[in-house]
Amino acid sequence: MEIRFTLNGKPTAVDVPPDITLLRLLRDYLDMTGTKCGCEIGECGACSVILDGEVVNSCLVLAPQVEGRRVVTIEGIRGPDGGPNDLQEAFIEAGAIQCGFCTPGMVVAATVLLRKHGYPTREQIIEGISGNLCRCTGYQQIVEAIQMTVLRRGGLPEKEEHA
Ligand code: FES
Ligand code: FES
Repeated sequence: MEIRFTLNGKPTAVDVPPDITLLRLLRDYLDMTGTKCGCEIGECGACSVILDGEVVNSCLVLAPQVEGRRVVTIEGIRGPDGGPNDLQEAFIEAGAIQCGFCTPGMVVAATVLLRKHGYPTREQIIEGISGNLCRCTGYQQIVEAIQMTVLRRGGLPEKEEHA
């Protein structure tokens, strides 16, 4: 069946079997391999994408469900010059990328978190990435990278925020 949707801002049409997941559609039919395939049962968050503004596990979304909707993958998250944006730069600076397998999903989750909360607290950051597993256990650096982005975007250091 043909599915039409908006992918990273571009109208997209693709012919796929009706019973495949969004993850398979992206990786196998559109070569969008930035979205990683981990558990395929909704537990690791490696396959996170943004569907109509919300983070979803693309392994739990059936391809026909995205008909007429907006999907943003890691390939659609970038700075104005097409390179890494400030969040992605912060991941690099903070050493938040070890093997890198969880990184696209983490960046997707953090992007929506920052969009929703503006200047999330440490607790909100931890909650915001709680659906994303890092098998290298680099959580500390990942939280730091997001905190660094919050500060650079004008947020206050945590102590002042609660003062
Ligand atoms: S691959 Fe989708 S949650 Fe793990
Ligand atoms: S950096 Fe390896 S899984 Fe997170």
